[in-house]
Amino acid sequence: MKRPIGFIDSGLGGISVLKEVQKLLPMEDYYYYGDSFHHPYGERSKDNLLKVVDEGIQELLKQNCKLIVVACNTATTMVLPEIRKKYPEIPFVGTEPALKVAYDYYPNKRVLVMGTKGTIESERLQFLNAQYPIDNVTFLACPELAPLIEEGDQTKIKTYLEETLSSYQGKVDVIVLGCTHYVFVKPMIKEILKDVILLDGNQGIANQVKHLLEEKGL
Ligand code: DGL
Repeated sequence: MKRPIGFIDSGLGGISVLKEVQKLLPMEDYYYYGDSFHHPYGERSKDNLLKVVDEGIQELLKQNCKLIVVACNTATTMVLPEIRKKYPEIPFVGTEPALKVAYDYYPNKRVLVMGTKGTIESERLQFLNAQYPIDNVTFLACPELAPLIEEGDQTKIKTYLEETLSSYQGKVDVIVLGCTHYVFVKPMIKEILKDVILLDGNQGIANQVKHLLEEKGL
């Protein structure tokens, strides 16, 4: 039997990553672990998140996954190094805010990075910020946004986005979507901040998965 590629996220956000990977690798099999029981990851302590994510990884390993995509910025920035250390034989691909893309392609633009509390406060994000030093960058934790997207009430999501983003009108050029859930509300963000460029790293992740599979002969 074909071994699947595993995905983990705290609910439906990682489906945005899965879609992109599936587009590039349509012949592969996939297993998606949407951990809505432990949603949101963004409000958890590092120790607690490690325990919760590890449970998900064990489930994916039971399904005999040949590669695991941590389709969650929070889990990637907070606990992926520990997970890699625990399972050195498994290839992992993480998801982190696309600061490199903003730095490489929009060096002179005003950049807003949105993410969960966990991601925005992570040491990994500080490291990325030091490695890709964008002159004009603002970091914004949006603790309620992923839970609202998970809940699915479009009116509530719209109200939250308006309250959170209206003050950035005319003040940002690029938004880095540092949470896989946020990809689903791109059109609403565009409605509020008309000319803004929205970046997620999903295409890059699909390419990484492809390369890693080839490199490992999987
Ligand atoms: N989808 C997740 C991320 O990319 C996590 C949202 C949450 O559970 O707080 O960070």
